[in-house]
Amino acid sequence: PPGTRIGRDGELLFAGAPVTELAARFGTPAYLLDEAHVRRQARAYREALPEAEVAFAGKALCTRSVLRWVAEEGLSLDTCSGGEIAVARAAGFPASRILLHGNVKTSEDLKTALGYGVGRIVLDSLDEIEQLGALAHGRQEVLIRVVPGVDGGTHAAITTGTEGQKFGFSLLPRVTDNLDRAVAAVLAQPSLRLTGLHCHLGSEVSRVDAYERAARRMVEALAHVRETYGLELTHLDLGGGHAVDFDLAGYARRLRVALGYECSVRDFPMPRLTVEPGRAIVARAGITVYRVCAVKRGSRTFVAVDGGMSDNPRPALYGARYTARLANRYSRAERQPMMVVGRHCEAGDVLAHDVPLPADVRPGDLIAVPGTGAYHHSLASNYNQVGRPPLVGVRDGVASLLVRRETEEDLLARDVG
Ligand code: LLP
Repeated sequence: PPGTRIGRDGELLFAGAPVTELAARFGTPAYLLDEAHVRRQARAYREALPEAEVAFAGKALCTRSVLRWVAEEGLSLDTCSGGEIAVARAAGFPASRILLHGNVKTSEDLKTALGYGVGRIVLDSLDEIEQLGALAHGRQEVLIRVVPGVDGGTHAAITTGTEGQKFGFSLLPRVTDNLDRAVAAVLAQPSLRLTGLHCHLGSEVSRVDAYERAARRMVEALAHVRETYGLELTHLDLGGGHAVDFDLAGYARRLRVALGYECSVRDFPMPRLTVEPGRAIVARAGITVYRVCAVKRGSRTFVAVDGGMSDNPRPALYGARYTARLANRYSRAERQPMMVVGRHCEAGDVLAHDVPLPADVRPGDLIAVPGTGAYHHSLASNYNQVGRPPLVGVRDGVASLLVRRETEEDLLARDVG
Protein backbone atom coordinates (compact mmCIF):
# COMPACT_ATOMS: atom_id res chain seq x y z
CA PRO A 1 0.00 0.00 0.00
CA PRO A 2 1.08 3.63 -0.54
CA GLY A 3 3.17 5.02 2.28
CA THR A 4 4.24 1.58 3.48
CA ARG A 5 7.55 -0.24 3.25
CA ILE A 6 8.90 -3.40 4.77
CA GLY A 7 11.32 -2.87 7.67
CA ARG A 8 14.49 -4.81 8.44
CA ASP A 9 12.73 -7.42 10.56
CA GLY A 10 9.96 -7.93 8.04
CA GLU A 11 7.50 -5.67 9.83
CA LEU A 12 5.48 -3.05 7.98
CA LEU A 13 6.64 0.56 8.11
CA PHE A 14 3.93 3.17 7.72
CA ALA A 15 5.06 6.65 6.69
CA GLY A 16 8.46 5.67 8.07
CA ALA A 17 7.24 4.33 11.45
CA PRO A 18 7.18 0.62 12.40
CA VAL A 19 3.58 -0.49 12.68
CA THR A 20 4.50 -2.73 15.63
CA GLU A 21 5.63 0.34 17.59
CA LEU A 22 2.54 2.33 16.63
CA ALA A 23 0.32 -0.55 17.75
CA ALA A 24 2.19 -0.84 21.05
CA ARG A 25 1.93 2.89 21.70
CA PHE A 26 -1.63 3.59 20.56
CA GLY A 27 -3.27 0.17 20.89
CA THR A 28 -5.40 -1.63 18.31
CA PRO A 29 -7.48 -1.24 16.33
CA ALA A 30 -6.10 2.09 15.18
CA TYR A 31 -6.52 4.25 12.11
CA LEU A 32 -3.12 5.45 10.85
CA LEU A 33 -2.93 8.44 8.56
CA ASP A 34 0.01 9.54 6.40
CA GLU A 35 0.03 13.34 6.53
CA ALA A 36 2.42 13.71 3.60
CA HIS A 37 0.11 11.62 1.42
CA VAL A 38 -2.89 13.84 2.23
CA ARG A 39 -0.89 16.95 1.43
CA ARG A 40 0.44 15.42 -1.80
CA GLN A 41 -3.05 14.56 -2.99
CA ALA A 42 -4.29 18.04 -2.17
CA ARG A 43 -1.39 19.53 -4.13
CA ALA A 44 -1.97 17.16 -7.05
CA TYR A 45 -5.52 18.51 -7.35
CA ARG A 46 -4.36 22.12 -7.18
CA GLU A 47 -1.76 21.46 -9.84
CA ALA A 48 -4.05 19.48 -12.16
CA LEU A 49 -6.79 22.12 -11.92
CA PRO A 50 -5.08 25.45 -11.26
CA GLU A 51 -8.07 27.36 -12.60
CA ALA A 52 -10.50 25.64 -10.22
CA GLU A 53 -11.37 25.87 -6.56
CA VAL A 54 -10.71 22.49 -4.92
CA ALA A 55 -12.97 21.92 -1.92
CA PHE A 56 -12.14 18.94 0.28
CA ALA A 57 -15.32 17.02 1.13
CA GLY A 58 -15.03 16.92 4.90
CA LYS A 59 -17.52 14.08 5.19
CA ALA A 60 -14.71 11.75 4.10
CA LEU A 61 -12.60 12.61 7.16
CA CYS A 62 -13.40 15.52 9.42
CA THR A 63 -10.91 16.29 12.17
CA ARG A 64 -9.26 19.56 13.10
CA SER A 65 -5.83 18.32 12.07
CA VAL A 66 -6.89 17.10 8.62
CA LEU A 67 -8.84 20.30 7.97
CA ARG A 68 -5.78 22.34 8.94
CA TRP A 69 -3.59 20.38 6.52
CA VAL A 70 -5.94 20.86 3.59
CA ALA A 71 -6.46 24.54 4.48
CA GLU A 72 -2.68 25.00 4.43
CA GLU A 73 -2.58 23.36 1.00
CA GLY A 74 -5.01 26.00 -0.26
CA LEU A 75 -8.15 23.88 -0.44
CA SER A 76 -11.67 25.01 0.35
CA LEU A 77 -14.06 22.84 2.36
CA ASP A 78 -17.37 21.15 1.62
CA THR A 79 -19.37 20.61 4.82
CA CYS A 80 -22.81 19.08 5.30
CA SER A 81 -23.78 19.81 8.91
CA GLY A 82 -23.40 22.28 11.73
CA GLY A 83 -21.12 19.70 13.36
CA GLU A 84 -18.69 19.74 10.47
CA ILE A 85 -18.74 23.55 10.47
CA ALA A 86 -17.97 23.46 14.21
CA VAL A 87 -14.89 21.30 13.54
CA ALA A 88 -13.86 23.63 10.70
CA ARG A 89 -14.26 26.60 13.00
CA ALA A 90 -12.19 24.91 15.70
CA ALA A 91 -9.52 24.26 13.05
CA GLY A 92 -9.57 27.93 12.07
CA PHE A 93 -10.72 27.07 8.56
CA PRO A 94 -11.43 30.36 6.73
CA ALA A 95 -15.23 30.76 6.66
CA SER A 96 -15.24 32.30 3.20
CA ARG A 97 -13.79 29.04 1.80
CA ILE A 98 -16.53 26.83 3.30
CA LEU A 99 -19.57 25.48 1.43
CA LEU A 100 -22.60 23.96 3.15
CA HIS A 101 -24.37 21.11 1.38
CA GLY A 102 -27.07 18.58 2.09
CA ASN A 103 -30.68 17.79 1.32
CA VAL A 104 -31.56 18.57 4.93
CA LYS A 105 -30.10 21.49 6.77
CA THR A 106 -31.81 21.94 10.08
CA SER A 107 -32.36 25.46 11.33
CA GLU A 108 -29.45 24.80 13.73
CA ASP A 109 -27.22 23.88 10.78
CA LEU A 110 -28.23 27.05 8.94
CA LYS A 111 -27.75 29.23 12.01
CA THR A 112 -24.30 27.75 12.62
CA ALA A 113 -23.40 28.41 8.98
CA LEU A 114 -24.67 31.98 9.07
CA GLY A 115 -23.08 32.58 12.46
CA TYR A 116 -19.65 31.53 11.16
CA GLY A 117 -20.24 33.34 7.87
CA VAL A 118 -19.69 30.40 5.51
CA GLY A 119 -19.02 31.46 1.95
CA ARG A 120 -21.71 29.55 0.08
CA ILE A 121 -24.79 27.54 0.96
CA VAL A 122 -25.97 25.04 -1.64
CA LEU A 123 -29.77 24.97 -1.73
CA ASP A 124 -31.62 21.70 -2.16
CA SER A 125 -35.37 22.33 -1.73
CA LEU A 126 -37.97 25.09 -2.00
CA ASP A 127 -38.65 24.77 1.73
CA GLU A 128 -35.00 25.34 2.47
CA ILE A 129 -34.86 28.41 0.20
CA GLU A 130 -37.69 29.95 2.16
CA GLN A 131 -36.18 29.03 5.49
CA LEU A 132 -32.72 30.37 4.65
CA GLY A 133 -34.25 33.48 3.10
CA ALA A 134 -35.91 34.23 6.43
CA LEU A 135 -32.80 33.52 8.53
CA ALA A 136 -30.13 35.22 6.41
CA HIS A 137 -29.14 38.83 6.82
CA GLY A 138 -27.36 40.81 4.17
CA ARG A 139 -26.78 38.88 0.99
CA GLN A 140 -25.85 35.26 1.66
CA GLU A 141 -24.21 33.75 -1.40
CA VAL A 142 -26.00 30.59 -2.54
CA LEU A 143 -25.83 27.96 -5.26
CA ILE A 144 -28.67 25.73 -6.41
CA ARG A 145 -28.09 21.98 -6.60
CA VAL A 146 -29.47 20.38 -9.74
CA VAL A 147 -29.88 16.82 -10.96
CA PRO A 148 -27.77 16.58 -14.09
CA GLY A 149 -29.42 13.32 -15.12
CA VAL A 150 -26.07 11.57 -15.52
CA ASP A 151 -25.35 8.13 -14.11
CA GLY A 152 -21.81 7.77 -12.82
CA GLY A 153 -22.10 3.97 -12.89
CA THR A 154 -21.57 3.39 -9.18
CA HIS A 155 -23.37 1.66 -6.26
CA ALA A 156 -27.06 2.69 -5.94
CA ALA A 157 -26.60 3.88 -2.35
CA ILE A 158 -24.02 6.45 -3.48
CA THR A 159 -25.55 7.49 -6.83
CA THR A 160 -26.82 11.08 -6.77
CA GLY A 161 -26.76 12.40 -10.34
CA THR A 162 -29.92 10.74 -11.65
CA GLU A 163 -33.64 11.48 -11.51
CA GLY A 164 -35.50 9.64 -8.76
CA GLN A 165 -33.01 10.11 -5.89
CA LYS A 166 -33.47 12.65 -3.13
CA PHE A 167 -30.89 15.35 -3.97
CA GLY A 168 -31.24 18.49 -6.05
CA PHE A 169 -33.69 20.16 -8.41
CA SER A 170 -34.62 18.48 -11.65
CA LEU A 171 -33.73 19.99 -15.01
CA LEU A 172 -36.88 18.48 -16.49
CA PRO A 173 -39.58 21.10 -17.14
CA ARG A 174 -42.44 18.70 -16.32
CA VAL A 175 -41.13 18.02 -12.79
CA THR A 176 -42.75 20.40 -10.29
CA ASP A 177 -39.74 21.19 -8.10
CA ASN A 178 -37.41 21.94 -10.98
CA LEU A 179 -34.59 24.42 -11.52
CA ASP A 180 -36.91 27.20 -12.73
CA ARG A 181 -38.99 27.06 -9.58
CA ALA A 182 -35.83 27.11 -7.49
CA VAL A 183 -34.33 30.12 -9.28
CA ALA A 184 -37.59 32.07 -8.99
CA ALA A 185 -37.80 31.20 -5.30
CA VAL A 186 -34.24 32.38 -4.61
CA LEU A 187 -34.74 35.61 -6.59
CA ALA A 188 -37.79 36.31 -4.43
CA GLN A 189 -35.56 36.32 -1.32
CA PRO A 190 -33.76 39.66 -0.95
CA SER A 191 -31.36 38.16 1.62
CA LEU A 192 -29.96 35.61 -0.88
CA ARG A 193 -27.57 36.14 -3.76
CA LEU A 194 -27.54 33.39 -6.37
CA THR A 195 -24.13 32.97 -8.00
CA GLY A 196 -24.10 29.49 -9.48
CA LEU A 197 -25.19 25.90 -9.84
CA HIS A 198 -23.96 22.68 -8.30
CA CYS A 199 -24.27 18.99 -9.11
CA HIS A 200 -22.77 15.80 -7.71
CA LEU A 201 -22.91 12.49 -9.55
CA GLY A 202 -22.19 10.17 -6.67
CA SER A 203 -19.18 8.55 -5.09
CA GLU A 204 -16.53 6.09 -6.33
CA VAL A 205 -17.05 7.29 -9.89
CA SER A 206 -14.15 6.48 -12.19
CA ARG A 207 -15.77 7.37 -15.50
CA VAL A 208 -14.39 10.68 -16.70
CA ASP A 209 -16.94 10.76 -19.54
CA ALA A 210 -19.76 10.95 -16.96
CA TYR A 211 -18.27 14.19 -15.60
CA GLU A 212 -17.83 15.49 -19.11
CA ARG A 213 -21.53 14.91 -19.83
CA ALA A 214 -22.52 16.50 -16.53
CA ALA A 215 -20.38 19.56 -17.31
CA ARG A 216 -22.14 19.99 -20.66
CA ARG A 217 -25.56 19.68 -19.05
CA MET A 218 -24.61 22.21 -16.42
CA VAL A 219 -23.49 24.83 -18.95
CA GLU A 220 -26.79 24.24 -20.72
CA ALA A 221 -28.54 24.89 -17.40
CA LEU A 222 -26.48 28.06 -16.77
CA ALA A 223 -27.42 29.32 -20.24
CA HIS A 224 -31.06 28.45 -19.57
CA VAL A 225 -31.03 30.55 -16.39
CA ARG A 226 -29.54 33.48 -18.33
CA GLU A 227 -32.18 33.18 -21.05
CA THR A 228 -35.08 32.83 -18.66
CA TYR A 229 -34.07 35.25 -15.90
CA GLY A 230 -31.43 37.46 -17.51
CA LEU A 231 -29.08 36.36 -14.72
CA GLU A 232 -25.51 35.39 -15.62
CA LEU A 233 -24.28 32.94 -13.01
CA THR A 234 -20.52 32.85 -12.51
CA HIS A 235 -20.00 29.61 -10.54
CA LEU A 236 -20.15 25.99 -11.56
CA ASP A 237 -19.60 23.37 -8.87
CA LEU A 238 -19.25 19.88 -10.33
CA GLY A 239 -19.12 18.05 -7.00
CA GLY A 240 -16.75 15.24 -6.10
CA GLY A 241 -17.03 11.49 -6.14
CA HIS A 242 -13.71 10.67 -7.77
CA ALA A 243 -12.66 7.07 -7.22
CA VAL A 244 -9.21 6.40 -5.77
CA ASP A 245 -7.84 5.39 -9.17
CA PHE A 246 -9.33 8.46 -10.83
CA ASP A 247 -7.67 9.77 -14.01
CA LEU A 248 -7.23 13.31 -12.74
CA ALA A 249 -5.18 14.54 -15.71
CA GLY A 250 -7.74 13.13 -18.17
CA TYR A 251 -10.56 14.68 -16.15
CA ALA A 252 -8.93 18.11 -16.16
CA ARG A 253 -8.22 17.92 -19.89
CA ARG A 254 -11.65 16.72 -20.93
CA LEU A 255 -13.47 19.15 -18.64
CA ARG A 256 -11.56 22.07 -20.12
CA VAL A 257 -12.44 21.01 -23.64
CA ALA A 258 -16.10 20.30 -22.83
CA LEU A 259 -16.60 23.52 -20.87
CA GLY A 260 -14.69 25.58 -23.44
CA TYR A 261 -16.80 24.20 -26.25
CA GLU A 262 -20.19 24.50 -24.51
CA CYS A 263 -19.44 28.02 -23.31
CA SER A 264 -18.27 29.18 -26.72
CA VAL A 265 -21.28 27.82 -28.64
CA ARG A 266 -23.61 29.44 -26.12
CA ASP A 267 -21.54 32.58 -25.87
CA PHE A 268 -21.45 32.05 -22.13
CA PRO A 269 -18.45 33.28 -20.08
CA MET A 270 -16.35 30.46 -18.64
CA PRO A 271 -17.68 29.92 -15.08
CA ARG A 272 -15.44 29.65 -12.02
CA LEU A 273 -15.14 25.93 -11.42
CA THR A 274 -15.30 24.13 -8.06
CA VAL A 275 -14.60 20.42 -7.55
CA GLU A 276 -15.16 18.56 -4.29
CA PRO A 277 -13.01 15.47 -3.88
CA GLY A 278 -13.15 13.72 -0.51
CA ARG A 279 -12.16 10.09 -0.94
CA ALA A 280 -9.47 10.82 -3.55
CA ILE A 281 -7.64 13.10 -1.10
CA VAL A 282 -7.57 10.84 1.97
CA ALA A 283 -8.56 7.22 1.17
CA ARG A 284 -5.11 5.93 0.32
CA ALA A 285 -3.48 7.96 3.07
CA GLY A 286 -4.91 5.65 5.70
CA ILE A 287 -4.58 2.08 6.93
CA THR A 288 -6.27 0.36 9.85
CA VAL A 289 -4.22 -1.88 12.10
CA TYR A 290 -5.93 -4.71 13.98
CA ARG A 291 -4.68 -7.41 16.30
CA VAL A 292 -5.56 -11.01 15.59
CA CYS A 293 -7.58 -12.47 18.46
CA ALA A 294 -8.44 -15.91 17.15
CA VAL A 295 -7.92 -18.06 14.07
CA LYS A 296 -10.63 -20.58 13.31
CA ARG A 297 -9.95 -23.29 10.76
CA GLY A 298 -13.12 -24.91 9.46
CA SER A 299 -14.65 -25.10 6.01
CA ARG A 300 -13.09 -21.66 5.66
CA THR A 301 -10.34 -20.05 7.67
CA PHE A 302 -11.47 -17.09 9.75
CA VAL A 303 -8.99 -14.61 11.14
CA ALA A 304 -10.90 -12.75 13.83
CA VAL A 305 -9.58 -9.33 14.80
CA ASP A 306 -10.28 -6.79 17.54
CA GLY A 307 -12.27 -4.37 15.31
CA GLY A 308 -14.88 -4.82 12.62
CA MET A 309 -18.00 -3.22 11.23
CA SER A 310 -17.97 -0.53 13.93
CA ASP A 311 -14.75 0.89 12.48
CA ASN A 312 -15.49 -0.18 8.88
CA PRO A 313 -19.15 -0.64 7.92
CA ARG A 314 -18.37 -0.26 4.20
CA PRO A 315 -18.37 -3.97 3.26
CA ALA A 316 -21.81 -4.32 4.86
CA LEU A 317 -23.17 -1.06 3.41
CA TYR A 318 -21.78 -1.08 -0.11
CA GLY A 319 -20.28 -4.52 -0.63
CA ALA A 320 -16.88 -2.82 -0.55
CA ARG A 321 -13.86 -5.13 -0.88
CA TYR A 322 -10.58 -4.78 1.02
CA THR A 323 -7.24 -6.49 1.13
CA ALA A 324 -5.32 -7.31 4.29
CA ARG A 325 -1.74 -8.21 5.11
CA LEU A 326 0.32 -9.42 7.99
CA ALA A 327 2.01 -6.34 9.45
CA ASN A 328 4.25 -7.35 12.34
CA ARG A 329 6.59 -9.93 10.80
CA TYR A 330 7.56 -11.64 7.61
CA SER A 331 6.30 -15.19 7.21
CA ARG A 332 7.56 -17.73 4.71
CA ALA A 333 4.50 -19.90 5.27
CA GLU A 334 2.29 -20.71 2.32
CA ARG A 335 -0.44 -18.14 1.52
CA GLN A 336 -3.99 -19.39 1.94
CA PRO A 337 -7.28 -17.59 1.31
CA MET A 338 -8.73 -16.38 4.61
CA MET A 339 -11.68 -14.34 5.78
CA VAL A 340 -10.70 -11.44 8.01
CA VAL A 341 -13.70 -10.99 10.27
CA GLY A 342 -14.61 -8.54 13.01
CA ARG A 343 -15.75 -8.91 16.59
CA HIS A 344 -19.36 -7.87 16.13
CA CYS A 345 -22.39 -10.09 16.55
CA GLU A 346 -23.28 -10.38 12.86
CA ALA A 347 -22.23 -12.85 10.19
CA GLY A 348 -21.92 -9.91 7.78
CA ASP A 349 -19.14 -8.41 9.88
CA VAL A 350 -16.43 -9.30 7.37
CA LEU A 351 -13.54 -6.90 6.78
CA ALA A 352 -11.81 -8.74 3.93
CA HIS A 353 -12.95 -11.69 1.85
CA ASP A 354 -10.68 -14.56 0.85
CA VAL A 355 -7.43 -12.66 1.17
CA PRO A 356 -4.16 -14.58 0.91
CA LEU A 357 -2.55 -14.68 4.37
CA PRO A 358 0.29 -16.88 5.62
CA ALA A 359 -0.86 -20.23 6.99
CA ASP A 360 0.91 -19.58 10.31
CA VAL A 361 -1.05 -16.42 11.15
CA ARG A 362 -1.80 -16.54 14.90
CA PRO A 363 -3.28 -14.58 17.79
CA GLY A 364 -1.17 -11.55 18.62
CA ASP A 365 -0.22 -10.90 15.00
CA LEU A 366 -1.06 -7.52 13.49
CA ILE A 367 -3.19 -7.21 10.36
CA ALA A 368 -3.13 -4.05 8.24
CA VAL A 369 -6.05 -3.12 6.00
CA PRO A 370 -5.04 -0.42 3.51
CA GLY A 371 -7.14 2.27 1.88
CA THR A 372 -9.09 3.24 5.00
CA GLY A 373 -8.46 6.98 5.14
CA ALA A 374 -11.87 8.00 3.76
CA TYR A 375 -15.28 7.15 5.24
CA HIS A 376 -13.92 4.96 8.02
CA HIS A 377 -13.26 7.28 10.94
CA SER A 378 -16.23 9.34 9.71
CA LEU A 379 -18.60 6.35 9.36
CA ALA A 380 -17.55 4.60 12.59
CA SER A 381 -20.09 3.71 15.26
CA ASN A 382 -19.87 2.28 18.74
CA TYR A 383 -22.04 -0.71 17.94
CA ASN A 384 -21.91 -3.37 20.66
CA GLN A 385 -20.51 -0.60 22.90
CA VAL A 386 -17.12 -0.95 21.28
CA GLY A 387 -15.22 2.32 21.54
CA ARG A 388 -14.16 3.94 18.28
CA PRO A 389 -10.45 3.64 17.40
CA PRO A 390 -7.97 6.49 17.64
CA LEU A 391 -6.72 8.35 14.58
CA VAL A 392 -2.93 8.57 14.53
CA GLY A 393 -1.12 10.92 12.18
CA VAL A 394 2.34 9.88 10.99
CA ARG A 395 4.81 12.17 9.31
CA ASP A 396 8.42 11.26 8.50
CA GLY A 397 8.30 8.41 10.97
CA VAL A 398 6.95 10.59 13.79
CA ALA A 399 3.49 9.71 15.10
CA SER A 400 1.03 11.93 16.90
CA LEU A 401 -2.41 11.27 18.26
CA LEU A 402 -5.04 13.21 16.28
CA VAL A 403 -8.20 11.70 17.78
CA ARG A 404 -7.99 9.59 20.92
CA ARG A 405 -9.66 6.22 21.41
CA GLU A 406 -13.23 6.26 22.71
CA THR A 407 -13.34 4.87 26.24
CA GLU A 408 -16.05 3.17 28.27
CA GLU A 409 -16.36 6.43 30.22
CA ASP A 410 -17.02 8.26 26.94
CA LEU A 411 -19.70 5.74 26.07
CA LEU A 412 -21.34 5.97 29.50
CA ALA A 413 -21.12 9.77 29.65
CA ARG A 414 -24.13 10.18 27.37
CA ASP A 415 -26.20 7.47 29.05
CA VAL A 416 -27.93 9.68 31.59
CA GLY A 417 -31.20 7.82 32.21
N1 LLP B 1 -19.72 16.66 -2.70
C1 LLP B 1 -20.93 16.27 -2.27
C2 LLP B 1 -22.06 17.18 -2.40
C3 LLP B 1 -21.09 15.00 -1.71
O1 LLP B 1 -22.28 14.62 -1.29
C4 LLP B 1 -19.97 14.14 -1.59
C5 LLP B 1 -20.10 12.81 -1.02
C6 LLP B 1 -18.72 14.61 -2.04
C7 LLP B 1 -18.64 15.88 -2.60
C8 LLP B 1 -17.47 13.80 -1.94
O2 LLP B 1 -17.51 12.56 -2.54
P1 LLP B 1 -16.16 11.70 -2.64
O3 LLP B 1 -15.22 12.48 -3.48
O4 LLP B 1 -15.62 11.53 -1.26
O5 LLP B 1 -16.58 10.41 -3.22
N2 LLP B 1 -20.15 6.82 2.71
C9 LLP B 1 -19.88 6.52 1.32
C10 LLP B 1 -19.61 7.76 0.50
C11 LLP B 1 -20.73 8.75 0.54
C12 LLP B 1 -20.41 10.03 -0.21
C13 LLP B 1 -21.41 11.09 0.07
N3 LLP B 1 -21.19 12.33 -0.59
C14 LLP B 1 -18.73 5.54 1.23
O6 LLP B 1 -18.20 5.14 2.25
O7 LLP B 1 -18.38 5.13 0.13
